[in-house]
Amino acid sequence: MTMSPRILPPDAESLRLCADRLAHGGLVALPTETVYGLAANARDDKAVAGIYAAKGRPSFNPLIVHLAFGHEAENYAQVTPLARKLMRAFWPGPLTLVLERRADSPLSLLVSAGLDSVALRVPSHPVAHDLLKISGLPLAAPSANLSGKISPTTAQHVATEFAGTDLPILDGGACIVGLESTVIDARGTEPILLRPGGITEEQITAACGLLPVPPASTGAFHSPGMLASHYAPDRPVRLNVHSAKKDEAFLGFGTPRPEYTLNLSPQGDLTEGAANLFSYLRRLDTIPYTGIAVATIPETGLGVAINDRLRRAAAEK
Ligand code: TXA
Ligand code: MG
Repeated sequence: MTMSPRILPPDAESLRLCADRLAHGGLVALPTETVYGLAANARDDKAVAGIYAAKGRPSFNPLIVHLAFGHEAENYAQVTPLARKLMRAFWPGPLTLVLERRADSPLSLLVSAGLDSVALRVPSHPVAHDLLKISGLPLAAPSANLSGKISPTTAQHVATEFAGTDLPILDGGACIVGLESTVIDARGTEPILLRPGGITEEQITAACGLLPVPPASTGAFHSPGMLASHYAPDRPVRLNVHSAKKDEAFLGFGTPRPEYTLNLSPQGDLTEGAANLFSYLRRLDTIPYTGIAVATIPETGLGVAINDRLRRAAAEK
């Protein structure tokens, strides 16, 4: 049976269907004012892992979490005075703010790719807003294209990109901005421009009285590669391990073995493995083992991204 994406009119019935799918861990394509996004419940590790799997991303870049209302940001992140100014000026709209995650944030660690920060935005597109409100969920959504391809600005672009899947696509017409949101790191007192986009530097300056600074001049990390390598366990990590040493934690994958401290996926499911990766590494890092040994993970599908991430964690020791 061949599947094909379903382009849906954004009526009450389609919105319900999409909200339902999201609540059950599924993916939905939604229009925003910038580009179409591939959305999943940002609280659900497994649903978020599904985004990486669907996009065929070779590594875990952190994702933007979309909210229906600006005040929800407080539930997930430390909102600085600078962020408050920018939110007031540009939300809802094409501005994404990178903030420090709250310690008790219920968001998946995978949306942050293991970092201590989270990117938040409140889109202004009415269909995106309706879906966020009806689902009642924070939605992680990267642009709805395959990895390395151009961001889609119509429902048809998304359908072409995800041909062969049964992805529901809410049709919100052509995106008016057509360019991704501007990403600003607002954790400090100065706005750091991580990605130029729909809101100009002049607009940012007009709103907060400060010129956005490039990441390099502040010493902050900026390239996605550097971003992804930020989080590493404190303990040494060894990969492709068949038998762990006496005081090492053993992170397994696939067929259960009594030696495994934790198993990323007893079924050998790479999507489940990706969903558990960051939280399991953090958990093993809090127990007093001398190191973390990791079983072999197949270098196929999402396994490529998992191994990429694990190699960075291992290399940093
Ligand atoms: O306009 C947009 O922002 C679209 C629509 C769908 O909202 N989304 C989008 O997502 O462009 P994506 O995943 O293609 O790009 C996310 C950008 C990347 O440059 C990523 O590095 C950055 O946001 N980002 C996300 N979380 C971050 C974090 N915690 N720290 C630094 N940068 C982050
Ligand atoms: Mg993109």
